[in-house]
Amino acid sequence: MLKAMVEGATLPVIVIDGDGRIIFANKSSEEFTEYSRQELLGLNVRDLCAPYEPGRYIFSTLPEIKKTTEVDIDLRRKSGRVFMASVSFSPFDHRGSRRLLLTLRDVTTNRVQEGKTREAEERYRKLLDDRNMLQDQLNRSSKLAFMGELAAGIAHEINNPLGIILGFVQDILEEIPEDHPLAESIKIIEQETARCVGVVKELLDFARLRPPQRRRVDMLQLLEDSVALLMPGIKKNKVRIIKAYANGVPNIEIDPDLIRQVFLNVMINAIQAMPYGGELGLDIDLVRCRQSQQGQDYVRATISDTGRGIHEEDLDRVFDPFFTTKGTKGTGLGLSVCQRIMDDHRGRIEIESRRGVGTTCRIYSPV
Ligand SMILES: Nc1ncnc2c1ncn2[C@@H]1O[C@H](COP(=O)(O)OP(=O)(O)OP(=O)(O)O)[C@@H](O)[C@H]1O
Ligand SMILES: [Mg+2]
Repeated sequence: MLKAMVEGATLPVIVIDGDGRIIFANKSSEEFTEYSRQELLGLNVRDLCAPYEPGRYIFSTLPEIKKTTEVDIDLRRKSGRVFMASVSFSPFDHRGSRRLLLTLRDVTTNRVQEGKTREAEERYRKLLDDRNMLQDQLNRSSKLAFMGELAAGIAHEINNPLGIILGFVQDILEEIPEDHPLAESIKIIEQETARCVGVVKELLDFARLRPPQRRRVDMLQLLEDSVALLMPGIKKNKVRIIKAYANGVPNIEIDPDLIRQVFLNVMINAIQAMPYGGELGLDIDLVRCRQSQQGQDYVRATISDTGRGIHEEDLDRVFDPFFTTKGTKGTGLGLSVCQRIMDDHRGRIEIESRRGVGTTCRIYSPV
């Protein structure tokens, strides 16, 4: 009965000895391997494998296998066709000799299916990533909007009293003789108050950036003009400029003064990150972006440097207003202003960086 069962089973079953020699094969294994039973009985299990498989660890331990072990092995049919199989090795002893019962399953279709599932999974993960990125952008924008309002509120409240103080101080200066013992002190009060007025004005500019006044502009030319303004710093830091401008980039409607400000802020950061020289990469090309509304084209300016890079934990904060690693040398407003400007243009700004390798900033302006 056992013999009839094994013989009639749809599962290919093979029995081998400790050296891998085939000593039994059922009917299904004939179909499966394309060898006849006679042929199978003269073969070693290694002969059923793809040429690169016999070196596998499992074949060196056949006599020592203690419990059923299932492995994926590439098998080769008599016709030479290689396919993926799952082979289970079940050990048993027969009259004092080691035997292994092998069952074979073709898993090619399973694995291909798994591959497809993985692909779908990756696509899904990508979608999630995109969603998270949009959420991040949204968070950033609302944080900025809040900071903007706060700054505007404070600036407004301080602006008036400062103006009044300045007016009175100037009155006093006009009234008193130049050699008055307090004249010097009052002049200092005037200077410092004027400085405060300047700071507040900057803050107001930041808080209430004017809406873009769009003109049709050649981005290549705009970038060229911007970098020309920075030549002194570029020379001083011994920075080499490497340009890659794509052909056929259309002129687009932007506010050139505002976008120039973005280019300047980003390039200044890049130059500051390379105090001992390096490469400033300037690329402009046209991209179609799938994250946005159907088929929106963007002109992308890519500004890269080979400078010190940004710590991973700081990367999320570089767009925050007042985030700076430059101590008193930076206000930390550069990139947040850039982001506001790009938001107002319905564009985007992205930063990618590796510590010690460099930083790449991509600026997308919609066509
Ligand atoms: N190209 C870059 N390489 C290395 N770090 C950078 C780069 N660009 C930005 N950063 C980091 O991001 C921070 C914020 O940049 P941001 O331009 O907003 O402010 P800042 O340069 O510090 O000051 P500000 O631009 O107001 O003078 C910087 O302090 C720096 O740590
Ligand atoms: Mg800066």
